[in-house]
Amino acid sequence: MDLHDLRPEIKSILSQENLSVDERLLKVCETLEANISYYNWVGFYFKNGDKDELKLGPYVGEPTDHTIIPFGKGICGQVAVSNENFVVPDVSAQDNYIACSITVKAEIVIPIFVNGNNIGQIDIDSNTPDPFTKADEQFLEFVCEAVATLLA
Ligand code: SME
Repeated sequence: MDLHDLRPEIKSILSQENLSVDERLLKVCETLEANISYYNWVGFYFKNGDKDELKLGPYVGEPTDHTIIPFGKGICGQVAVSNENFVVPDVSAQDNYIACSITVKAEIVIPIFVNGNNIGQIDIDSNTPDPFTKADEQFLEFVCEAVATLLA
């Protein structure tokens, strides 16, 4: 499916006020994983209270041991401090990387900002080498902005 075609679906999921925020976020994960062939693990991490660490939120894909990630560690922890998108075409080329599954070849992490603060991120792992383009970044920025309006 074309990434652009998923935008209305994401908006519609996030506006389902009969569902909790976590239920809506899980549906977003499920929709992304089901519709985009190279999105194989899709999840959210959020800042854990006032601690300098991320806590795993809703996700789909293989369970991970990394439910808490200190700021600065791994791709996710680096995005927590850089406030910038991180696209990794080849995870084996990264020194500061936390492996969740040996099948993962590439990763993309996009931060979520609420009132200018980096409060979390969407994290996507792919079993396909070098699959992410600028279109993925732009689409996932849209998803993160839409999620941010729920959390504001
Ligand atoms: N690979 C991530 C850890 C989270 S898992 O991909 C679910 C990282 O290096 O931060």
